[in-house]
Amino acid sequence: MKAALSSVPEKQQQDSEFLREVLEGLGGKRKTLPCKYLYDEVGSRLFEDICEVGDYYLTRTEASIFANNLRDIASEIGRDALLIEPGAGNCEKVEALLAVLESPRGYYPIDISPEILLDAERRIKANLPEMQVWSEVGDFTQPGVWDRLSMIPSRKRVVFFPGSTIGNFEPEKAEELLEMFAANLGTGDGLLIGTDLVKDSVRLERAYHDSEHVTEKFNKNLLSRINSELGADFDLSLFAHRAFYHQLRKRVEMHLVSLKKHSVSIADTRVDFSEGETIHTENSHKYSVSDFNQLLARGGFRPICHWKDSADSYAIHYAQAI
Ligand code: AVJ
Repeated sequence: MKAALSSVPEKQQQDSEFLREVLEGLGGKRKTLPCKYLYDEVGSRLFEDICEVGDYYLTRTEASIFANNLRDIASEIGRDALLIEPGAGNCEKVEALLAVLESPRGYYPIDISPEILLDAERRIKANLPEMQVWSEVGDFTQPGVWDRLSMIPSRKRVVFFPGSTIGNFEPEKAEELLEMFAANLGTGDGLLIGTDLVKDSVRLERAYHDSEHVTEKFNKNLLSRINSELGADFDLSLFAHRAFYHQLRKRVEMHLVSLKKHSVSIADTRVDFSEGETIHTENSHKYSVSDFNQLLARGGFRPICHWKDSADSYAIHYAQAI
């Protein structure tokens, strides 16, 4: 595991990068903020709470598809596989799969949080003492974190990307991400990936505007974070959480709506909001199986098979690098 250096200059650099991206996003005609900033410590905890919320069916449904098809999935992956998980987090989803794989070569989780990865590595080694684990700290969209793979000889590599995380990427970026996965795989290597499916908008919108208001807290936490880390003065009571399904773009958009005309100061910059103006904070793209198969093909993969729940809410796909 790489050393987790958090020296002062690095922290300052991260802050100024954060400030630059915030001012850039709020400086345009249509205000946006990068969704990656939703996931600080508080935000990541709120997202875990979202996964428990009744209206948010995604996590539960994916877990049930895994549970119901574990042997089938394991046999598709085959023996001696090295499992690679970009954005592994607490590595909870992979454990059941690792436990049933035939003579797995090992596990290569990638995540930006060294603390969470280290805990997960300890837990996996306690539960599966034979398992070799190579934890890699970093942003999985950056090529560097994949480099160490070349030092791990294996018969087969399989990228594991659950959670419908691919949905957070614009289709073009999603394609680039798949290309990056493919670039780190050989022909016939695998990709096991979860996607939320296109469905009626009422159910989709409820998932992102839940009756327990957890998603609202999650969305607004972005403003608290800008307040505390960048010294801004957002008044959270002047913003409302909004989530809607965009039929044409096939995505749920999350916004924060300004309830009245007012301005906010961030560092030395004043940002004006009109009544009803929104900050677009996240997209969650939905796919039909055939749409996703096309995306897989554009990204360098041959779709092999998929598993769904009985209500066709969610799919787990298996594909092979071409
Ligand atoms: C973590 C990207 C899968 O889009 O469903 C949940 C994030 N945002 N509720 C999703 C999220 C608001 C989630 N993903």
